[in-house]
Amino acid sequence: MRKKIVAGNWKMNTGIQDARTLVDGILNDLPQLASHQQVVFCPPYIHISRVNGQIQDSGKAQVFCGAQNCHDKASGAFTGEISIPMLKEIGVTHVIIGHSERRQYFAESHDFLKSKVDALVEAGMQVIFCCGEPLEVREAESQNDFVAQQLKDSLMHLNAEVLQNQVIIAYEPIWAIGTGKTASSNQAQEMHAFIRALLATHYGEDTANEISILYGGSCNAANAAELFACPDVDGGLIGGAALKAETFLPIIQALS
Ligand code: 13P
Repeated sequence: MRKKIVAGNWKMNTGIQDARTLVDGILNDLPQLASHQQVVFCPPYIHISRVNGQIQDSGKAQVFCGAQNCHDKASGAFTGEISIPMLKEIGVTHVIIGHSERRQYFAESHDFLKSKVDALVEAGMQVIFCCGEPLEVREAESQNDFVAQQLKDSLMHLNAEVLQNQVIIAYEPIWAIGTGKTASSNQAQEMHAFIRALLATHYGEDTANEISILYGGSCNAANAAELFACPDVDGGLIGGAALKAETFLPIIQALS
């Protein structure tokens, strides 16, 4: 059975005390998760050790700590970067790759993302691979080609077993990120079904049916249940609404 996941991408938000309060607030009131459900916190790097400690202390299973990025090399002269072995050592299990903000503001190329994907897979980590089109592409109705290219360029060189065991896809239309303009459940379902069909063509239906495809972009307590009820939407990658326990918990509760 494929996993249903709510992941919180905190982006460059929260100080130490806010992070502690946020995680405590969520863990204290976390609903009982079914065996196929997972929650992932992706705080800024400097909070990861503490957040992971809080998760361990809570004894909650199926709650994980992720990172928002990584470098593809294990060590070396890359000032300001963080490597996968460093993340692994402090208990990180999931890493977000290819977020549109990394692609846009830090000029991360398809090749660099592919290299990060390979390094993460090699290290046995879970990759949360982001894809999604800008507004002008949606307006030109070319979103399917755009997203297919992102997946082909950086992800679909993996074999079926690796894809199935180590990859989560997050569809995040750029026009919906931080704008309050959520994709409708129809738009989300259409794209998620397209992605699953693309994977089925390449890997076969059995593999495609095992891949979790999350939706991200102004997902909140009010719209999560409708989005997650779509047959191909397997949860969400949440930005703004992941920063408060009272807005994040109802999104977790919307998982089926
Ligand atoms: P918002 O939920 O703030 O729109 O952000 C979505 C996102 O980019 C998660 O990675």
